[in-house]
Amino acid sequence: MENTEELKRQREYIERLKGTVIRLKDSLSRTPKCAVVTFGCQMNARDSEKLAGILKEAGFALDGTESDADLVIYNTCSVRDNANQKVYGHLGSLKPLKKKNPGLKIAMCGCMMQEQSVIDNISRNYGFVDLVFGTHNIFKFAELLYRMYEESAGQIIDIWESTDDQVEDLPVERKYSYKSGVNIMYGCNNFCTYCIVPYVRGRERSRDAKEIVREIEKLSEDGVIEVMLLGQNVNSYGKGLDEDIDFSDLLKEVEKIDGIKRIRFMTSHPKDLSDKLIDTIASSEKICRHIHLPLQSGSDRILKAMNRHYTKESYLGLVRKIREAIPDIAITTDIIIGFPGETKEDVDDTIDVINKVEYDNAFTFIYSKRTGTPAASMADQVSEEFASEQFNRVLDAVRECASKRNGMLIGRVEEALVESISDNDPSMVTGRLSNNSMVHFKGDKQLIGSIVQVRLHTAGGFYYIGDMV
Ligand code: SAH
Ligand code: SF4
Ligand code: F3S
Repeated sequence: MENTEELKRQREYIERLKGTVIRLKDSLSRTPKCAVVTFGCQMNARDSEKLAGILKEAGFALDGTESDADLVIYNTCSVRDNANQKVYGHLGSLKPLKKKNPGLKIAMCGCMMQEQSVIDNISRNYGFVDLVFGTHNIFKFAELLYRMYEESAGQIIDIWESTDDQVEDLPVERKYSYKSGVNIMYGCNNFCTYCIVPYVRGRERSRDAKEIVREIEKLSEDGVIEVMLLGQNVNSYGKGLDEDIDFSDLLKEVEKIDGIKRIRFMTSHPKDLSDKLIDTIASSEKICRHIHLPLQSGSDRILKAMNRHYTKESYLGLVRKIREAIPDIAITTDIIIGFPGETKEDVDDTIDVINKVEYDNAFTFIYSKRTGTPAASMADQVSEEFASEQFNRVLDAVRECASKRNGMLIGRVEEALVESISDNDPSMVTGRLSNNSMVHFKGDKQLIGSIVQVRLHTAGGFYYIGDMV
């Protein structure tokens, strides 16, 4: 439910925080600096922009780093154990800084904070952390920050189990002027057996289409030309809303917004990808020629144990349909290696799918056991050695097909949205093609944020070199 009462409350706290910042400024003789450090996926990146929006409005400078900031915020991810370990590593290196400078404040939020074991660990072993909140009450950030500075001596921990509240219209500070993520839904209901996301992000909730459209219209007025619609399973958008609307209908609404030139979305679950959606993409001028379609495994037995609700054949059938309707589309994927019970033959099936689909790129992950998920208590966990052996086989297959695919556009003139000055050559800029490939070409920083025509003449590993026409 949209909660305007709460919005008002949080706006009041932002006003009060302005006083806090003035007080800090007086005692430091400079504007207090903060560093928002983000781990994990696009959802977290978008959440961090919301945190930054509130901090900026309150008067903080956003250009702090972990070593010089007065306030450090870790927005965490818990999808794999190494994500958790990384956060603890960063936290450990702040401890001596905090000893030297007791005025340094440390806040933690994001998916890890929804794990009870993490909260126990922080309250027991990381007493120097000042504020902890979770994924459901991120809209309370202004209030919690105010309490941390003005009311509390000890550690504040505020974690909610779930929420129905959607607090819209708090300030947001975007990382890029010309593109933006837009949440279209929160949470996940799929409970893939390996995955912690449904536990840390809660049940699936779609946002009202008119709220989404209103947000994108405002973004467009503010200079945004590309939006990325975000959800764990965008293909099930609309379930549970009063309005009878699905993801394909939503895309058509977004397409109507004048200033928006490009539409991307993430992530598509193969089980819910409809023919209607394929038609909508095929007939759209604005929806980009790229789909991220996580496979996870090519083995029917493993897919069943993962609770993915599709088979190798149905996945391949889906890819065939997509390629027939949209021949130049790039397809990327996620793959997990080393799921409990996985054998070499199962991995052969995964490699078979890789070879048949010819992915443009794939993110490959070694299975990580997440406490509380069904897969964590499956009996036949595989050895690290086996997993890393199989991982290398899969990686080789991915590299081979990605290099086959990259270069397919050579000779064509394509639209590129210029994103930055090229890392390797300051006389070049880097742009993104509709199919998500990068292209480098001669140009200057005036071009950043605009769409230009580029002739693609050579290809490197994962990019093209071209000339603006
Ligand atoms: N909602 C998206 C995925 C979000 S998580 C989807 O369903 O496709 C991003 C990726 O992390 C997943 O696609 C999966 O490949 C990987 N992942 C999730 N849980 C994992 C685990 N326990 N171990 C290893 N990889 C995992
Ligand atoms: Fe995790 Fe599956 Fe939900 Fe994706 S769809 S977030 S993999 S449970
Ligand atoms: Fe990580 Fe949370 Fe995203 S667990 S992948 S940051 S939803």
